[in-house]
Amino acid sequence: MLKDFGAHPADRVPKAELHAHLEGTIHAPVLRTLAARNGITLPDGVLDEADNYLWTDFNDFLKVYDLATSAIKTPEDYYDLTLDYLERVAAEGGLYVELLASPDHVFNLGMTLKDQLDAMVQAIDEARESVGVEARISQTIVRHYGPEKAIAAATAIADHPHPYITGFQMAGAEDAYTPADFRPAYDIAVDAGLRCTAHTGEWLGPDSMRETLAALPMVERLGHGVRAIYDADLVRELAERKVPFEVCPGSNIALNVFPSPEEHALRGLWDAGCVITLASDDPPYFHTSLGAEYRFAVDVAGLSVPDLYTITRNALQAGFMDEATRSALMMRVAASEAA
Ligand code: ADE
Ligand code: ZN
Repeated sequence: MLKDFGAHPADRVPKAELHAHLEGTIHAPVLRTLAARNGITLPDGVLDEADNYLWTDFNDFLKVYDLATSAIKTPEDYYDLTLDYLERVAAEGGLYVELLASPDHVFNLGMTLKDQLDAMVQAIDEARESVGVEARISQTIVRHYGPEKAIAAATAIADHPHPYITGFQMAGAEDAYTPADFRPAYDIAVDAGLRCTAHTGEWLGPDSMRETLAALPMVERLGHGVRAIYDADLVRELAERKVPFEVCPGSNIALNVFPSPEEHALRGLWDAGCVITLASDDPPYFHTSLGAEYRFAVDVAGLSVPDLYTITRNALQAGFMDEATRSALMMRVAASEAA
């Protein structure tokens, strides 16, 4: 949790995020605990002595992410890391989280999707009881593993439905293959009743975003999407169509997607009338948290506390959840604003 939590006007705003990679939320002490109890020595180059994740650039980050994930071995590990993250988000005012789970990582670990799912579901139920946070799961394929693996993962996802699994998307290297190559995997997900988003416009620009939206028309939200800012026509179109953006400023700044915090696209997209949501992506890797993202929106992008309430409502409106859950969460936001 933020050290001086409560000291900033953003801290009292209830929060919701649509973009937190489950394996990317593992705090270093938790990772060390998992490794120790599984009898694993963490590979060199994952954590430094001060418990910072070590990576140099985006491709290196993806490698370290996979290396760190290899410390997860059991369903209990997934239970612990899911619960730990949900408790941490709730401590910063988080009401709702969409967790990006990765079947490919589960397969790499030699675990079954059912075992992992049961563990995540148990943690989500526990967190709802203990800290009042709600969560859903967005199953995520890894783009640079290729279209064949994506189809295999999508097929396994379709074979393991659960009411908490509501979303499907692709992450990983944005320049690997073409969006159209992943259409068969997306079709399987749509047939299984899942709603879709995609990482796009994090590394590649407006042309690639247009290509993604054309090839994958089932994509309802933009994972990042921030590079739309370089094309005013695209920004106007996305604002008019009310396509929600999953904006992750801390991640973008750590990875140098923009040259400086002040040049981040958040303010420009907001001013253009885009539907903005905020999220933390892989928080400990990027020294961020959902609370820190909300503070950034005020301190750097110059948004107001009422704007932050709009951002939370945007996320709840765009969240892949059932209507009863949505309206219960919306009521909590309204109660907070009225207080
Ligand atoms: N996997 C984990 N974090 C990611 C990011 N920011 N972009 C793409 N793939 C990811
Ligand atoms: Zn991401």
